[in-house]
Amino acid sequence: MQLILDKQGTLYEQIARSLKLNILGGRLVAGSRLPSTRTLAIALGVSRKSVIEAYELLSAEQLVSARGGSCTRVADIGGAAAVSKRSRVLSVSRYATRLRKLPPLQLAIARLDTRPKYNLQYGEPLLNRALLNSWRRKLAAAALRAASTYPDAAGFVPLRRAIADYLSRRRGVICHASDILIVGGTQQALTLVARVLLNEQEHVVVEDPHYQLAMHSLLTHGARITSVRTDSEGIVVAEMPSRATRLAYVTPSHQFPSGVIMTLERRIELLKWAARADSWIFEDDYDSEFHSGDRPVASLRSLDLSERVIYVGSLSKTLFPSLRLGYIVCPKGLRDDLFKAKQLDDLGSPAIEQAALATFMQSRQFDNHLRISLKEILIRRRTVVESLERLEPHIEIGPHQGGMHLVIWFRQLRFSQLDRFLKHARSVGLGLDPIHPYYRVKPSRPGLIIGYAGVSNAQLKTAMDLLARCVEAI
Ligand SMILES: Cc1ncc(COP(=O)(O)O)c(C=O)c1O
Repeated sequence: MQLILDKQGTLYEQIARSLKLNILGGRLVAGSRLPSTRTLAIALGVSRKSVIEAYELLSAEQLVSARGGSCTRVADIGGAAAVSKRSRVLSVSRYATRLRKLPPLQLAIARLDTRPKYNLQYGEPLLNRALLNSWRRKLAAAALRAASTYPDAAGFVPLRRAIADYLSRRRGVICHASDILIVGGTQQALTLVARVLLNEQEHVVVEDPHYQLAMHSLLTHGARITSVRTDSEGIVVAEMPSRATRLAYVTPSHQFPSGVIMTLERRIELLKWAARADSWIFEDDYDSEFHSGDRPVASLRSLDLSERVIYVGSLSKTLFPSLRLGYIVCPKGLRDDLFKAKQLDDLGSPAIEQAALATFMQSRQFDNHLRISLKEILIRRRTVVESLERLEPHIEIGPHQGGMHLVIWFRQLRFSQLDRFLKHARSVGLGLDPIHPYYRVKPSRPGLIIGYAGVSNAQLKTAMDLLARCVEAI
């Protein structure tokens, strides 16, 4: 018998684990006697106490039986020795097979452990202490009120009413509370929509560049993706396939990540294409509240007379992403299916958070919070854009009328120099992400996606000075 200690956990756990592997692997057969605790302790160079505790653990797991204190024997576990490494079950579903083939995620969400001092990576929320304090109070009050039974799987009715009211006031979406399904953010909306609409190998159109988490979700559900180019007006509808398509996933209010706002003409064209291709449209309206000007652009859903648009909103940008709440405005034709899919998925989103959010949205606080956030975002955007304008001999600035990020393109830097540039930026404390991993068709020159919500305006000024020095150094 060979005992190898794997250095994971306490000593007695290591000894017990090693003996267990020998028992399950058939090297220690039923009835055979384990060495005395003293002998094994000496052989392993450990204290006798550790060996005694290991034997006790194995005994509690019924893998050995101790008789009279001194003699510990391997229990008869009826053929368990067949549980060898060779018979490990290796087969997984086609879903998991596709999951394993996904490329790594570029989004900062996948690298929470390595936060640089000045983090300009996309996805950082706008931090607001006043909001968090108010949220804490709302949660405490909601915890006392919310029932502890299972919630309504479609969502807390007062919250659905508050969202319907908000959408008609601010997004031109006229809907009834009963059309709204509360979900765990856009990500769960994607899962539910894919489950309800998609069969494997069916065609789905995705914008290029694209939101990786949407792409990954659709790919794992077996979609055949057609990436369609975007230009300065949004997705190029003229290049969308004419064959029957199941779904098109778009970000019309603020194309992710290029920042383009889809023009009205393109929106109408897109809706006409959907009618021809018999396609549903997933409208991801993730950050439309942060546009310059008086009102955010009207949603695609507000132009849709044929009920093909599945409008999805998220609280991740307007409040914060750890909340994990969002909503689907369900078209009539999918409403019951989406509701049932949500019920089977998780039996409903957490009740206390929903009740707290309902109170927040019903009061003026949500609108006030949006007003304050917009003001702050506009200040930070101005800081970033003014600093970048000074670098225009070296870079080109992408559209920046909305959202919490923008894209810059290098005029001279080559792809072969990009890694060195990013490493240098990192060494001075700057977290930056390249833009090309968001493309299926690699762009002709390198660029960066710059998120400016998670860094205070004062810090942004320093960060932009550092960026300028890095750009000028190349
Ligand atoms: C394009 C896009 N859609 C949606 C979301 C929000 O996703 P969720 O609601 O799952 O947090 C984000 C957030 O970063 C995003 O970038």
